[in-house]
Amino acid sequence: MTDATVEGTWAPGDDSVENAQGMPRRPELLTDPSLRTRVRQPGGRRFPFPVPNGWFIVATSESLAPGEVVPLHYFGRDLVLFRTASGQARVTDAYCAHLGAHLAVGGHVEGEGIVCPFHGWCYDGETGRCTDIPYGPGSHIPSQAKVRSFPVIERNRMVWAWFHLEGKAPFYEVPEVPEFDDPAFSEPYATDFVIDTVCQEMAENNHDPVHFRFVHGADDIPEDDVLIEGTYKRVTSMGGAFVRETFGLGLGVLRVRDVVTFLTSTTPIDDEGVHVRWIFLAPAGNGPDDARQAAEAFMGGLSQDVPIWENKRYVERPVLLKDERGILDHRQWCTQFYSDPALAID
Ligand code: FES
Ligand SMILES: [Fe+2]
Repeated sequence: MTDATVEGTWAPGDDSVENAQGMPRRPELLTDPSLRTRVRQPGGRRFPFPVPNGWFIVATSESLAPGEVVPLHYFGRDLVLFRTASGQARVTDAYCAHLGAHLAVGGHVEGEGIVCPFHGWCYDGETGRCTDIPYGPGSHIPSQAKVRSFPVIERNRMVWAWFHLEGKAPFYEVPEVPEFDDPAFSEPYATDFVIDTVCQEMAENNHDPVHFRFVHGADDIPEDDVLIEGTYKRVTSMGGAFVRETFGLGLGVLRVRDVVTFLTSTTPIDDEGVHVRWIFLAPAGNGPDDARQAAEAFMGGLSQDVPIWENKRYVERPVLLKDERGILDHRQWCTQFYSDPALAID
């Protein structure tokens, strides 16, 4: 049973996994957090690192109509997402620089900006600068009249926002996944769920081959071919039938040949929780329901990891065997996505 040896990659309908040892497969706990085991006592910070810098999905493109204004909470911040008159998706901080009204509560889109509901100040969606104060003497707009804005792109039918703790520009790209526009592939099937963990911990699983046996009930430990180039990583397994590409912390594309392609984004809600989105595409010839079935198979695997992630703590100096050095290499790779919290901008 080789296909169970890589994170969640057993084929749909492979019920030998059901009987294998490992943590219970309970996909329902992904969508219903009340079913989850949580024995940890709250209190204290669990993880010694800040929200990572990167591109993260904040919405699906189709969910955001022109003129629509949506409150969000990601990156430990209250945000507002809106689509301008020309169709651009924009993300800014939620609170007006004037007297702090939440722009998504009664605010509206005007042209390329958003108008505060409280006193009508208008902010440009791209720069965050105030462009209009519709009262008072003259037309002077204080230079401090602005809200923080975040770079946004739309790709693969998703809206992505760039977060950088220091406000720096993007240093990697969101990949185009050609299967989204390939008629040989079915319509995407999207799933999403919230998990009490962080991007680095989820990604560390991929560099922890032994857990596949104990958590996922896999028969053996996969041998991976790993390529790392800066922010990019590619892992090939199962004789090339499985390829996982990582483009930044929390952004991946996985392909199981002839079975499924899926895009993963792990968006930090704050420094202790993530909003995971998995978007599946299956070859159209595999049947109309195949992407959904693939999603359920992968979610079954993920449900085995969740109780571990939500109850574990991060051990900064782990006691490891020689063969487990990949975990330390992964942690070292992750450091490029963190800023010194002392340099954070407001
Ligand atoms: S609080 Fe936004 S315009 Fe006054
Ligand atoms: Fe896992």
